[in-house]
Amino acid sequence: MTEQGVRLQDRRIALGITGSIAAYKAVDLLRLLQAEGADVRVLMTASATEFIGTLTLETLSRHPVDSDVLALQADGRIGHISTAHDVEAIVVAPATAHWLGAMANGLASDSITAACLATSVPVIVAPAMDGGMYAHPATQANVARLREFGYHLVEPEFGPLASGMVGQGRLASLDRIVDATVRALGGAPAAVAGAPTGAVSQSGAPGNSASAGSSRTDLAGRHVVVTAGGTAEPIDPVRFVGNRSSGKMGIAIAEEALDRGAAVTLILGNHTVEPPAGAHVAHAETAAEMEAALRALTPPSGPRFDVLVMTAAVADFRPHSPSAKKVSRSSGMTLEMVATPDLLAATAERVRTSIGASGARRPVLVGFAAETGSLERAEEKLRSKGVDLLVANDVTEPGSGFGTDTNKVTIYSSDGSSEELPLMAKREVAEFLLDRVAVRLAAIVGESAALAETN
Ligand code: PMT
Repeated sequence: MTEQGVRLQDRRIALGITGSIAAYKAVDLLRLLQAEGADVRVLMTASATEFIGTLTLETLSRHPVDSDVLALQADGRIGHISTAHDVEAIVVAPATAHWLGAMANGLASDSITAACLATSVPVIVAPAMDGGMYAHPATQANVARLREFGYHLVEPEFGPLASGMVGQGRLASLDRIVDATVRALGGAPAAVAGAPTGAVSQSGAPGNSASAGSSRTDLAGRHVVVTAGGTAEPIDPVRFVGNRSSGKMGIAIAEEALDRGAAVTLILGNHTVEPPAGAHVAHAETAAEMEAALRALTPPSGPRFDVLVMTAAVADFRPHSPSAKKVSRSSGMTLEMVATPDLLAATAERVRTSIGASGARRPVLVGFAAETGSLERAEEKLRSKGVDLLVANDVTEPGSGFGTDTNKVTIYSSDGSSEELPLMAKREVAEFLLDRVAVRLAAIVGESAALAETN
């Protein structure tokens, strides 16, 4: 529940619980959804009932639990079909690897998949499982398929798992699942923790606007791609060459873009903070994986995005020949490093070539520059990378750069202007930057319209 009041007042929501150890958290999720004003009815798979009893959920929800796809309701209606038509959203939490696979393939062997198949309302899915299971290409392919259906995926979190191991597989925090539900139903999620209270004005003056970023919709209908975090270049199966990027800056940009109505793809390297629920997350551990993700978005037919913000700290060098086996201390180690390609410059070049050939509208390209001691190399980077805007930060300044919640940046523009901003929250930097991006986008739309008129 927010300070403004409940956000799901009288909304009818189905909560689908599948057979994961995280099923016990679904009881609290039910209570949170109810605290937001929702009327919640519960669907369960047979294995979920092994983890928690239906009596608990029936008592709390004040509705019978549907855990048998073949069962009829007391009034003779088919349970999952009436749920599919009566509710306004279906939240599946936790969703197991098995359930994701069944749903991705339309196998209606339980009440939840059956209801999801029969419904046209938003479906919010929060997976929970072992980290290796979640990372497996089969699971990732199923997750991608569900995204294609338009489902809202709430990515699992990193941390200790039921097995005692650590990985990405913990059920997302219940607040994130509730926020994703509110967002899927067209409402405003709760303020992001650490988000600025005084937002940046459209005119660009930092810190003096009354309007929160999430109230704007100037990126609605746009596809924004953000790279975030640091790449990790393998030395051997257990060691890598990496950097200190936490992903905070890029994730703040992704959150801000989502709040302004954009569809967001987040190409994510190593990170310490959670990506936002609404983003499509493509994990890219190495520079080569990040390059592949960027290539897929820039085919010869034209770029598949309106904005690219390259916040990631991409390794400039990688070990020449990573060892297939762990290098032992006794054999010693001398690393031969080779330069990685400049992903941003190459992407900008592909974009230029493809829009020349296809006539597609040009996107706005934004780079970041991590500098030490001075920003004097930033303008040269703006030119050599071929971007519209370059955001430079001196990572040796206190509160600036890697791992911090704040940043002090100067934004260089291809029109020759630059703006030096004070130290501010990374979310405020994101807001300021996307103001600039929105202005550029509007100008590009104007250019295209003028061109169309003259032709
Ligand atoms: O993640 P945080 O902890 O919040 O930290 C944020 C940050 C410090 C990582 C961020 O603010 C930042 O400065 N990002 C850019 C880091 C970087 O790689 O800077 P660079 O000057 O080396 O590279 C310039 C640009 O080229 C960047 O957009 C980078 O993504 C890109 N690049 C770099 C190397 C490479 N091989 N390919 C690239 O595309």
